[in-house]
Amino acid sequence: MNQHDPAALYSDHLGVLMRRADEALARGGFDHLVVPSGTLHYQAFDDRDYPYAVNPLFKTWLPQTRLPCSWLVYTPGKRPTLVFYQPFDYWHVVPDAPSGWWVEHFDIHIIRKPEDALPLLPRDPARCAIIGEAQSALGGFVPNNPEAVIHYLDWYRAYKTPYEVALMRQAQVLAVRGHKAAEAAFRAGASEFGIHMAYCSAVGQDSNELPYGNIVALNEHAAVLHYTELGRVAPQPLRSFLIDAGASAHGYASDITRTYAAAGHDEFQALIDAVDAAQRKMCAAVRNGFDYKQLHVDAHLSLMGILKDFGVINVSPEAALATGVSAAFFPHGIGHLIGAQVHDVAGFAAGDHGGRVERPAGHPYLRMTRVLAPGMVVTIEPGLYFIDMLLDEVKQAGSAASVNWERVDFFRPYGGIRIEDEVLCTEGEADNLTRPVFAAA
Ligand code: GLY
Ligand code: MN
Ligand code: MN
Repeated sequence: MNQHDPAALYSDHLGVLMRRADEALARGGFDHLVVPSGTLHYQAFDDRDYPYAVNPLFKTWLPQTRLPCSWLVYTPGKRPTLVFYQPFDYWHVVPDAPSGWWVEHFDIHIIRKPEDALPLLPRDPARCAIIGEAQSALGGFVPNNPEAVIHYLDWYRAYKTPYEVALMRQAQVLAVRGHKAAEAAFRAGASEFGIHMAYCSAVGQDSNELPYGNIVALNEHAAVLHYTELGRVAPQPLRSFLIDAGASAHGYASDITRTYAAAGHDEFQALIDAVDAAQRKMCAAVRNGFDYKQLHVDAHLSLMGILKDFGVINVSPEAALATGVSAAFFPHGIGHLIGAQVHDVAGFAAGDHGGRVERPAGHPYLRMTRVLAPGMVVTIEPGLYFIDMLLDEVKQAGSAASVNWERVDFFRPYGGIRIEDEVLCTEGEADNLTRPVFAAA
C-alpha cells in the first residue's frame, strides 16, 4: 500500500475512527454519534457571513471542509451515514455532488433544505452523542457534547492515522511551495502584503482556506509573535524576514516558520543559523516516551546557550531560566499538537477519561504537556525575540545585569527569529515532516 496516498489509506482510517467511536459511545452510554458539519455565522446587524469553518470532528471523518448544514451519523456496527446538504441556490456555488474515493464508505442522503436532515437522523436525540457547536442545533438535535465521549475522542485524535499523516505531508508540500515563493519575494524587496500574496498564489489557497492567518513580518515586526498586519510598503532598509505560514490539505494543517536575514547582515544570519541548528536537535528529541514539557525546558536552556555565545546574556542558561530572563527572550511554548486544527485538541489531557496535566510553573504559554507517543505530530518552534515590553520586565525584576543591553540594541532592529517544523513521533527516530520537503524543493 502506498503510505503517501490518502485514497489508499482512507478505509483503514475510517475503521480506526469507528472503533474509537464505539468505545467513546459505550463510555458515554449513547447509541449514536451525531456530528453536524456546522452552519454559517453572520456578522452583527449585517447579512454578511463569516468564513465558514467546518466542525473539526466532521472533517476527520471525511475530506469535506465546505459542507455546511450536513450531518455525519455513526451507529456502532453500521456503515456511517452522511446527510449531505446541497441546496438549490442560484446565488452561490453549491457543493458538488459527493464523488471520489471516500463516498463508497457512506450511506449518503442528499438534502435541499437544512431541516430535511431531521427525518434522516436517529429517532431519539436523547440516545445520541451530538458533537458540535450550539448553533448547529436542529429540532431536538441540540449538541450535548458529552464529556466522556469528547475526552475519549480528543485523547486519541492526537495519534494520527497513516491517512492523516499522508494529508499532513501534502500540507507540507503546499506550504513549502509558498515559503519558497515568499523568500524570493522578500529577496526582491516586496512588502509584507506582496510577500503574502506571493505565498497565497504559490500555495493556491487564500486567507479563508489557510489553517491560520499568515504571519509575514519584516524587520522589527518579527518581534510581534502573531504579527498579521501585512504592511503595504516595504520598510527601508530591509534587514530581516520572519514568515509563519501553513497550508491545508483536506482540512489537515501545516504550520511552518522560517527566518531570513537580508544580504550583508551576517551576524544576524549567524544567530539564525545557531537557532536552526538547535531546532534540528530539538526535533530529533521527539521520541516515544519523552515528556514534551521537558523538551520545552531543554529548549530554554539551549536557546540561552546561544544568547550567551552571542554575548546577549552574561549569565548561565540555568540562571537565565531560573530568573525568568529566558522567558523574556523565548516567551512562547516550544510547540503544540497539530492535525485537523493547527493547535490540535487535548494537548493537556491526562488520559482518555479526561483530567489535565498542568504546565510547569513560569511557562504559561506552553500548549502541550503530554508525553510523546508514536502517531503524535507536534510542532517544534523555538524562537528568540527582542521585545521591549518583556525586557522592561527583566529590568523591573532586578535582572538587568544579566543582559548585555548593547547587544540587545544591536539585534532589536531584526525583531526576532523563529524556526518551526512538524515532527511525527514514531517507534524509533523522529520523522521531521518539514525538512525533507524544503530539501527537495
Ligand atoms: N502559527 C501559530 C503557531 O505557530 O502556533
Ligand atoms: Mn506557526
Ligand atoms: Mn505552531
